[in-house]
Amino acid sequence: MDNLRNLSIAERDAANHLHPVSSIHDVLTNGPAVYTGADGVEVFTEDGRRLIDLGAGLWCVNVGYGRAELADAAARMMRNQSFQHLFGGAACPATAELAERLMTQFRETVPTSDMARVFFGNSGSDANDSAIKLVRYYNNLRGLPAKKKIVSRIGAYHGVTVASGSLTGIAGYHKAFDLPIDGVLHTACPHHYGFAHPGESEAAFTDRLIAELEEMIRREGPATIAAFIAEPVMGTGGVFLPPEGYFPKLQAVLDRNDILLIIDEVITGFGRTGQWFGCGTYGIRPDIVSLAKGLTSAYFPMSASIISTRIWEVLTATSAETGAFMHGFTYSGHPVGSAVALANLDVIEGDGLVENARRQEAVLLGSLRDRLGDHPFIGDIRGVGLMAGVEFMADRGAKTPFAAGTAPHRIVAKHATAGGVLTRALPFLPVNSFSPPLSITEGQIEEGISRYAAAVNAAMPELQALARG
Ligand SMILES: Cc1ncc(COP(=O)(O)O)c(C=O)c1O
Repeated sequence: MDNLRNLSIAERDAANHLHPVSSIHDVLTNGPAVYTGADGVEVFTEDGRRLIDLGAGLWCVNVGYGRAELADAAARMMRNQSFQHLFGGAACPATAELAERLMTQFRETVPTSDMARVFFGNSGSDANDSAIKLVRYYNNLRGLPAKKKIVSRIGAYHGVTVASGSLTGIAGYHKAFDLPIDGVLHTACPHHYGFAHPGESEAAFTDRLIAELEEMIRREGPATIAAFIAEPVMGTGGVFLPPEGYFPKLQAVLDRNDILLIIDEVITGFGRTGQWFGCGTYGIRPDIVSLAKGLTSAYFPMSASIISTRIWEVLTATSAETGAFMHGFTYSGHPVGSAVALANLDVIEGDGLVENARRQEAVLLGSLRDRLGDHPFIGDIRGVGLMAGVEFMADRGAKTPFAAGTAPHRIVAKHATAGGVLTRALPFLPVNSFSPPLSITEGQIEEGISRYAAAVNAAMPELQALARG
């Protein structure tokens, strides 16, 4: 131990810790970046710097860091009911209250939906795993055991477990893990700026994608396809907004082929798009909704899977013969997580954070466009609510991308960190993303984006060298 005390945090960490979604080589070569605290929209580095976190961690700290209400709720519940498992029909007050509140919130803010029950888990990945299992269960109980395949999209991010990692449509998450597993298909990415043909309108692009999906369904056979999974706005892929008419046309095809729609609201849930849920923003009628992140603003690991009445009716009708629903986690509906989620919902409501996200959309996008709209290496700036993306191009006029394997957005993100602001460098396309706490003020956005713009300029010599190839 004495020896250990003489080592820095970075040294002790690098010597023992396998970091999630990190380059092992970089951590061993450069050491980890050590953060020691956070408050409001800022995180603190070990050497005493304060960085504006325009990512809210991983799109998750919706109420901002350090809210005493959430900490107090957790402490109170840890004293009163530190744990209660909910297997075998057990219940506890906080989880019952959270289930009721979530269902009410969802029904009221997504009038297109018809949802019946909520199941709780621990992470976005396991919520999507639960969705896959629910889809299998539903079709087995309906006597359709061949109807099992799930269609996801290229560029999608749905998590990293064996099943949810297979739904993810980004090659880096599959490489050397033998993913995707059988039974997962990936259809086209609905990113108009990146993948439309020259001159193709958004509506025509949507029609082409929907036709491709119909062709896939015909080829595979509708009797083999159980569900389609989609983020309302694709986050990790690159902040891709649905092109014109996408969800209504998608739903029509799914309905015609008796295919369920799983909506992954792990990022978009709880105000991120300027409404409570992305399903409300885009008028979606989901069969299963995956929630995590903003449910507790990441103060406690917790997820939720909300299921529709049509699924619930099949489950209830067959329950007596099928026996118990044998799916659930030790921590499903954890009372401490439930108490934190309730306190989090109080803050979102009490502070008007959904309204703030809606109001600040114009500030975030306006600030990015004013400062960087004409930048020679930035092809597109887009977003909704408090999520935005900046996509880099080697030649914006000709829409020539930077060479494969290069990472202009990582260079910029590095300069941004050095300049006092955190943005994320995404793994699919060269995009920096912005998803600040929903509590952010106009002044904080302006300050953060001005630091980001300075970082883009500081990166110019490296970007010019990359563009020259
Ligand atoms: C849309 C979406 N789904 C699922 C996940 C996975 O969540 P987790 O990392 O909690 O497993 C994420 C995480 O970023 C996400 O963005």
